[in-house]
Amino acid sequence: MSHWTMSKITNFFGLLGLGCFFSVLLFFNGKYDSPSMHEIQPSAAFLEAEKNNTTANKKRNDSKSKVIEEILNRQREFINTDMKGYQYPNGKYNISASKLEDFLMERNGTPIRNIIVTTWRSGSTFLGDILNAHPADFYHFEPLVAFDEIKIRGPPLAEKALNVTKDLLNCEYRNLDEYIEYGKTHSLVFDRNTHLWKQCRAHKGLCYNHQFLSAMCKLFPFQSMKIVRLRLQVAQELLADEKLAVRMVLLVRDPRGTVQSRKHHYWCKPHPDCSDPASLCADLASDYKVAMKLLKKYPTRFMIIRYEDLSLDPYKHVAELYKFYGLDLRPRTKQFLDSHTKVKRGDHMSTFRKSSTAPFHWKTEFTFEEVEEVQQSCAIAMKYWGYVPAMNATHQQEFNPVTDYVLRL
Ligand SMILES: *[C@@H]1O[C@H](CO)[C@@H](O)[C@H](O)[C@H]1NC(C)=O
Ligand SMILES: *[C@@H]1O[C@H](CO)[C@@H](O)[C@H](O)[C@H]1NC(C)=O
Ligand SMILES: *[C@@H]1O[C@H](CO)[C@@H](O)[C@H](O)[C@H]1NC(C)=O
Repeated sequence: MSHWTMSKITNFFGLLGLGCFFSVLLFFNGKYDSPSMHEIQPSAAFLEAEKNNTTANKKRNDSKSKVIEEILNRQREFINTDMKGYQYPNGKYNISASKLEDFLMERNGTPIRNIIVTTWRSGSTFLGDILNAHPADFYHFEPLVAFDEIKIRGPPLAEKALNVTKDLLNCEYRNLDEYIEYGKTHSLVFDRNTHLWKQCRAHKGLCYNHQFLSAMCKLFPFQSMKIVRLRLQVAQELLADEKLAVRMVLLVRDPRGTVQSRKHHYWCKPHPDCSDPASLCADLASDYKVAMKLLKKYPTRFMIIRYEDLSLDPYKHVAELYKFYGLDLRPRTKQFLDSHTKVKRGDHMSTFRKSSTAPFHWKTEFTFEEVEEVQQSCAIAMKYWGYVPAMNATHQQEFNPVTDYVLRL
C-alpha cells in the first residue's frame, strides 16, 4: 500500500506531461492485471449493490421480526384474556401451579402436557378436539405424520420418533426441519392447531420459521398432543421423562369398529399396519400388557379410556378426563360437547355426530362374515379390553358389545 502510494506520488510529482500520465496509467494497469487483485478486489459497483442489498435485507429482517414480535404480543394478551377466571390446580391433581406464569415455558414454568395415545379411527379426532376446546391450548396434532402410515413399535424408528415428539413438547423446533418441510405440503401438520393456524393463514410462510414456531408454542400454558403411530411400549418413554411431566391417556376402541371405520379411508388399504386386523389386535393386546404396568407405575399420570364409554356418556367421562389432566372444565368445552355429540353432520372425518351411536355403526354396516373375520384375529385383545363377541347375524344386531368393564390390576 505505502509502496505504490509512494510511487504514485513520486510519479505524479517527478514527471510532467503526457509521458508522465501514460506511465501512471500503465502502472495502474499492471497492478490491476495481477489475478490475485481480481479475486480480492470486488468491483465498486458490486460493493455498492451489496451495501444496498444488506441494508434491504436488514430492513426486511427487522420488519419481519417486528411483525413476529407484534403477533406474539397479541397472542400473549389473547391468552391472558382467555385465562381470566381460570381455576388453577394450586396443589390439586399433584400440580402446584397457582397462576398463569407457573405454566409458561417462556417464564421457565411447566405447562400441562396432555397426550392421547391411540391408533387410527379410534375416536381420537373427537377426543383431541375436546382437549383443544380448552382455552389457550397448543395442539400438536399427529406429530409423526411424516413417518407415513406405519406403527412404531421399537428400533430403529423409535428413537427418531421420540426425539420429534419430545422436541415438540418442549417447543423446540430447531431440529424439526423434516416436520416443518412436510407441513409445507400437508396442512394437517398445522391446521388442527387453531391458534397457530390463524397466524399461518394470515402471514404466509410464518409457520415454516422455526424461531417463530418455538416462540409461539412457548406462550401456551397447555400443550396437547395426539399420537396414533407410537405403540405404548415406545410412548411410555414420554412418561419416564420426569421433566416433561406429561399426562397420558390410552384411548382404546373395539377393533370391529376400528376396522369398519378404516374401510372408508383409501389411504389405509395399502398399509398392513392400518388394514390388517391381526396387526391391529396384536397391538391392542401388547398395549394392554404395557398399560397394566403403567397404571401401577404412574397412577396420577397414566389413564385408559374406551371410546365406547366416552361416547355413551361424554359429559361424565370428559369431566373425569379433565380432572385427570388437571384442567378446568370451562363453559366452552361444555358447549363443544353440546354441539358435537347430539347430531350427525359432515363427512367421515367430521366430529359432529350422534356420539351414542357413532361407535357402533359396524353392527349394521358389517356382515356377520366380516365381523367374524375380525373376531378371529382379535379374540385375545377383545377379551383383555372387555368387548363381547357376536355369535351370529341376529345376535350381532341385538347384543351389547361393551361389557361393564372394570380394569383389574
Ligand atoms: C435423538 O436425540 C439425541 C439427543 O439429542 C441425539 O443424540 C440422537 O442422535 C437423536 N437420534 C435420532 C435418530 O435423531
Ligand atoms: C407428584 O409429582 C412429583 C413431581 O412432580 C412426583 O415425584 C410424585 O411422584 C407425584 N405424586 C404422585 C402421587 O404421582
Ligand atoms: C345366535 O346367538 C345367540 C347368542 O349366543 C343364541 O342365543 C341364538 O340362539 C343364536 N341364534 C341362531 C339362529 O343361531
